[in-house]
Amino acid sequence: MTTKQNRIIIANHKMHFNFSQLKSWLDIFLSEVNLNLLNQTKLYLAVPASNLFQLNQTLRDMNLSQIIIPVAQSISPHTEGAYTGQISIQQLDSLIGAVIIGHSEVRTTNIYTDQDYWQMAKLALESNKKVFFCAGESLEQYNNGQTISFLGKQLEGLNDLHNSSDKVYICYEPIWAIGSGHQPKLTEILNIKTHLLEQFWKVPMLYGGSVDIENVDLVSSFGLNGILIGGASLDAKKFARLYDCL
Ligand code: PGA
Repeated sequence: MTTKQNRIIIANHKMHFNFSQLKSWLDIFLSEVNLNLLNQTKLYLAVPASNLFQLNQTLRDMNLSQIIIPVAQSISPHTEGAYTGQISIQQLDSLIGAVIIGHSEVRTTNIYTDQDYWQMAKLALESNKKVFFCAGESLEQYNNGQTISFLGKQLEGLNDLHNSSDKVYICYEPIWAIGSGHQPKLTEILNIKTHLLEQFWKVPMLYGGSVDIENVDLVSSFGLNGILIGGASLDAKKFARLYDCL
């Protein structure tokens, strides 16, 4: 059963904020959030790679590194070499506690294959990081009733990994729900949860896609293990209030 203690909240800042903006965000968030609630439900904060070093340092200085965990938004499927623009898990190792892998905004670049995403998960687990592995169908696939089969394909290569680790989380993020204001029905999410849990024994499942203060209580009632929040995490004050609704 998911309790507040083991529930995961991920704020995905995407490509927003330089460090000074992030520090202001953090100061406002901390002045507004109910610290008891934050202590109960840790925040996984996914920021651009350029902010990770200073974020890590700042959280240590503020004695917050146990309750706000820096997260990388992606990593390379390679460990080292001539891969301009990529960052390996080793290079981020001391800065983060978790990695988002296979976010649809990364997938749309078509740089990586499914095998690459599974390899990223393997490398992150070898570095003892939590893996937030995103999967989600397009609107066309959703309308054609292909959601479950498509998710199965994206998640197939995780089969071996999750058996050896309790650090794998599946983030169900329908592409058509991200930043659109639309969401799947409760029954559809529960159906996916049932199928995924049958296929991936005991893998915790998170949901992401247009979660906001107005609907977070509904999403919380889905009985999932956590939520990934993009756009609604950018306003620190509003995001702090969201914690009250969990
Ligand atoms: P959204 O983004 O909350 O803005 O829909 C979610 C995500 O991209 O993970």
